[in-house]
Amino acid sequence: MTRRKDLLDLQSLSAEEITYLLDTAQSFKEIVARPVKKVPTLRGKSVATVFFEPSTRTRTSFEAAAKIMSADTYSLAATTSSAVKGESLKDTMLTLDAMGIDAFVIRHSFSGSAHLAAKYVPGKPVINAGDGTHEHPTQGLLDLLTVREVKGRVDGLTVAIVGDIAHSRVARSNLWGLHKLGARVRLVGPATLLPADADQLPCEVFTDLEAGLRGADVVNVLRIQLERQDAAFFPSIREYARLFGVSAAKLHVAAPDVTVLHPGPMNRGVEIASSLADDRRYAVITDQVTNGVAVRMAVLFWLMGGAAQI
Ligand code: CP
Repeated sequence: MTRRKDLLDLQSLSAEEITYLLDTAQSFKEIVARPVKKVPTLRGKSVATVFFEPSTRTRTSFEAAAKIMSADTYSLAATTSSAVKGESLKDTMLTLDAMGIDAFVIRHSFSGSAHLAAKYVPGKPVINAGDGTHEHPTQGLLDLLTVREVKGRVDGLTVAIVGDIAHSRVARSNLWGLHKLGARVRLVGPATLLPADADQLPCEVFTDLEAGLRGADVVNVLRIQLERQDAAFFPSIREYARLFGVSAAKLHVAAPDVTVLHPGPMNRGVEIASSLADDRRYAVITDQVTNGVAVRMAVLFWLMGGAAQI
């Protein structure tokens, strides 16, 4: 597979590139399961995680992935960096580049920040770990890997993405990845939380939860992103939970073997019933997290050109 410089989105990736990353991640899962998780693939290389927004899963799993592959890792949190003194994204990137860091994983509240960062370091890989409401490509990949593992395929599945779609970078990456691999995608939520450009996207749109869930093979429940909402998009959290919160009871219209994903972090009792989140008959949320490490290894391997010493 021809190497790219950066991973900024799934919209611009081909089905072949996505499948290559999923296949590579699948093969790397064996390494993640070993008692001694260490291969020399990226020995001598360095990876910086540059996070201007909080994270538990993405940042830790990128650092785990890099360490398993023997890269050195550097962690920059905006709250304790010179960004609080007003340093720009450009100067942050140029500074880390001048230190000899080999690759950058960036999360920022500004949609397009990863594209910008990639321009500031023209010779080095930049990986988008979530930019505003635009994309979160490695989350999309780990969701695809989880769906493919559980269902044995992605092609032909009906996948309902439920919740705060308008503010969700996870929704966009899932939409593009699922569409490219042949799934039918539904966006389900209150009209106020659906994207303005939904009619131009390769999906069906539902404003009624039961209609959106009917016959779905997979339901991906998204978090209500209160931190990105500067207005009231629904009357109250209680009403949102009643109308759009997903529970085992509400899944009776979905396919009998429906699988439930959530990218985390969850608002238990709001967008997803707490009992459903823990119900292993449906929920694969911890499997998603496990797959996140292997997916991020695959992405680092692709962009940083690991030697064939796995
Ligand atoms: N899903 C996700 O991006 O989680 P974090 O914000 O914890 O990284």
